[in-house]
Amino acid sequence: MTDSAPGRNPLRGRRVALGVTGSIAAYKAVAIASSLTQQGALVDVVMTPEATRLVQPLSFQAITHRPVAWDMFELLAATEIGHVSIGHGADLLVVAPATAHSIAKLALGLADDMLGTTALATLAPGLIAPAMETNMWLHPATQGHLATLRARGWTVVEPESGHLASGASGEGRLAPPEMIVDVAKHLLAQGGDLSGWRVIVTAGGTREPIDPVRYVSNRSSGKMGYAAAEAARDRGAVVTLITTTGQQPPAGITTVDVEQATKMRDAVVAAFAEIDVLVMAAAVADYAPIEIAPDKIKKSGSSMLLELALTPDILGEVAGLGSNGQRPLIVGFAAETENLVENARAKLARKRLDLIVANDVSQPGGVFASDANKVTMIRSDGTSIDLPLLPKIDVAHALWDEVLAARRAGRGR
Ligand code: C5P
Repeated sequence: MTDSAPGRNPLRGRRVALGVTGSIAAYKAVAIASSLTQQGALVDVVMTPEATRLVQPLSFQAITHRPVAWDMFELLAATEIGHVSIGHGADLLVVAPATAHSIAKLALGLADDMLGTTALATLAPGLIAPAMETNMWLHPATQGHLATLRARGWTVVEPESGHLASGASGEGRLAPPEMIVDVAKHLLAQGGDLSGWRVIVTAGGTREPIDPVRYVSNRSSGKMGYAAAEAARDRGAVVTLITTTGQQPPAGITTVDVEQATKMRDAVVAAFAEIDVLVMAAAVADYAPIEIAPDKIKKSGSSMLLELALTPDILGEVAGLGSNGQRPLIVGFAAETENLVENARAKLARKRLDLIVANDVSQPGGVFASDANKVTMIRSDGTSIDLPLLPKIDVAHALWDEVLAARRAGRGR
């Protein structure tokens, strides 16, 4: 997962109330507070009295550079922050780790501590990440309270299986802090400038099978496609990632796993009628073996011939499914080793694209596995923008800026 470009990160400048309760995993909330703060959020930590016995409030204060709230009566006396002001000011309430006890209290709406009053006083969305011993987690009381919270709109980041504080191994371990932060980001992305858009991004190099164990492929890592998907998610879009890499996407992104060009084509065509934008960042093989051997091909002779046939041109096919105004906005990529801009311009016209992102893959070190990319974007009117070498997430945001501008100019449906 990439960190969104500064200023584009949905956490930047947002107020997150972080409730920390008395689970042994409370120390992991320090990492959550740190990551939220580093990504630009203003984090108000609200601890239950039990949590303060496990981790010092000072740890959170040092990391967030903000006062930590735990004593409701002390706060009631203070004029600048009362027992409901954190809740009123919050854009998001995160409770991590949440004990069985705190989950029950939140479900019942009990307000005998700072976290309870904050949760009742806030109108912000809630995210809860439980952590407890397996039987407590599986108990119908806990599951019932979580069902209540879900019905009330809370997002639950379920615990994992793994080593527990009791020494046993089982379900109940707090989800990884980075996952919790990523879900927080997804929740705060709602209302971004791509809100209400449904987009598809394809990522990775296709694998064209030769036999059950071998395939023909290319060097694409899928990183540019994943960055495009994450940037769209961070701006509020509903994103589906059609990917060959099998990698876990950032939170809130649906994936469709495919291997071959034909399967990627089927997935794109199936979704095409429902989307606003298609970004074809995948490196689709142009040719695939004509025959897939049912069994592993045995070594024989000093050479072998592999006969390949053209794969379906996915962009070419979907671009023909309606004229501008009736079809989604379509963005293609052009990886070239020579005559970058001319070749990309020709491709843009031939495939009737709204935008093409051209990258010179002959650069020393290559762009494939790298986290940075240097691209030229060419618009449908032929004008182009040269971007400097940038992290792929920044390239992705520049791409979405262009898509947004094209849509505002009346392109796409
Ligand atoms: O023609 P070329 O393969 O260079 O075009 C690259 C663009 O076309 C990329 O956006 C890629 O995802 C897409 N493509 C496709 N179907 C293919 C090959 C490439 O949609 N069979």
